[in-house]
Parts: sequence; structure tokens; C-alpha cells
Amino acid sequence: MSVGKVFLVGAGPGDPELLTLKAARIIGCADIAVYDRLIAAETLALVPEGAARIYVGKQAGHHCMPQAEINDMLVRLARTGRTIVRLKGGDPFIFGRGCEEAAALERAGIHYEVVPGVTAAQGCAAAARVPLTHRGLARSVRYVTGHCKSNGPLDLDWASLADPDTTLVVYMGLANVEEITARLIAFGLPQTTPALAVSQGTTPRERRLRTCLSGLPRAVSEAELAAPALFIIGRVAALATELDLDADETESGAAAVA
Ligand SMILES: C[S@@+](CC[C@H](N)C(=O)[O-])C[C@H]1O[C@@H](n2cnc3c(N)ncnc32)[C@H](O)[C@@H]1O
Repeated sequence: MSVGKVFLVGAGPGDPELLTLKAARIIGCADIAVYDRLIAAETLALVPEGAARIYVGKQAGHHCMPQAEINDMLVRLARTGRTIVRLKGGDPFIFGRGCEEAAALERAGIHYEVVPGVTAAQGCAAAARVPLTHRGLARSVRYVTGHCKSNGPLDLDWASLADPDTTLVVYMGLANVEEITARLIAFGLPQTTPALAVSQGTTPRERRLRTCLSGLPRAVSEAELAAPALFIIGRVAALATELDLDADETESGAAAVA
């Protein structure tokens, strides 16, 4: 029996034009596409007509299909000898559980390949014209999860995160924005540190809020910012002010950029 191959493909943060050429070519060869919630309709349209499309999307607190079942399904589908394209938002290996899928395929002896994608941090920062590192402002950048397994308390190394020379990009932090900001401030990051919240970045529904660290929770809740959203915290976030957009100062000190 011939065994198929699985491509773990990063589809980028939303804008379908941020797909790599390689991703687009491989999607166009799929016999079966297994895809997540944040995949753009234009990207799915690249799946050949007649190929099967299987939705396995997740939302915070509501998993459409448990990860173990997705892993098993990929193995099962590959054993039918077909080309399986597993489409994941952003980059498959950045907070994407792509490595768990890769490990399951590896254990089952299935050929697979990882196709990187533009991760949300990079897509959102570029769209806001914010450099994640910048001479004199940020010597490093860290991608951090703002969500903990089973919604438990965040177990992060706050002392090392509260570094004014580093840009922090917090993924999945909407629900814990108060705790994140309070902890960073308690560990010494100045309250005035610039912060940018980006919702649905690189899509036509993108919203950005420019504020400071202490103003972030209020700005996010007043704007009722929708998921998916991330926070860029650090001096570089102030460079978003250079955008030639209609930035309106609100009461909470946040500049809303629709
Ligand atoms: C499970 S993680 C997956 C990240 C993905 N693998 C990547 O590399 O971007 C989902 C989180 O990524 C962030 N995210 C993904 N797409 C986004 C977008 N278009 N705008 C803002 N944040 C986004 C949000 O923090 C969201 O909760």
C-alpha cells in the first residue's frame, strides 16, 4: 500500500498574499486539506476543486476536535496514499502545536514536510510599520504565550520578561491582559512602556490600539477588541505613531487606529 505525504503548511496571519510561493504551490496539489479556524477563504480557494476539505478549528475554550484526534486523523489520511495539506494559521511551529502533529507522523513512519509561514507577530508588526527590533530601542524580541493550559495562572519568567530593551509579543493574551500588565509592572517594566494591541491583523477587519503598558487592559476592554489579537509591548510600539492614519486619542490614553 502506498503511503501519502503530509505537508504542515503555515498560512500566515490572515492576508492571503502573505502565503509563501511554496505554500501556495503545495496547497494547489492537495488531495485533502485539513484546516484551522483562521485560514482565509482566498487561501482555501487554492485547494483544488474536488479535493476534500476538513475543518478542525479551535476557539478559546471550545475545541472542535481534540489535538490527539487531529494527530490520528493525519496519520490515517496519509495511509490512504494521498497528499494531505495541513493548513495552520501563521507559522505551524509558533504556538501552533505543529510539532505535536509532526511527532505523531514521525512515530507512524509517515513522510512529512514543514512549510514555514509568516507568524502573527511579524505580520501584525509589519502592517503597523513597527520594527520588532531596532537599534537603540530593542536588542531582542520575545514571543510569549499569554494563555495557560486549562486557564490556570500564567507561569512565565516575569523577571526576565520585564526587560525594557526587549520587545515582547504576547500571543493569546486577551483574557489575561490584566494579569500580564500587572505582573510586568510589578517586576519593574515602566508603566509608560509603549504598547500596541492588534486585532485581526493583516485582514480587512484589522484594528490597532496604541497605548502604554498600564493603559492596555482598559484600552482593550473599552474597544471590545476581538480575537485573534496580540500585544506588542516595548519601546518600538511607539513607532506605530508614525503611521499616517487617523489616530484618535481616547479617554484611556489609547490611540485607536481602525
Ligand atoms: C494558537 S496561536 C497560533 C499562532 C500562529 N501559529 C502564528 O504563528 O501566528 C493563535 C494566536 O495568534 C495570534 N494571532 C493569530 N493571527 C492573528 C492576527 N491576524 N492578528 C492578531 N493576532 C493574531 C493571536 O494571539 C491568537 O490568539
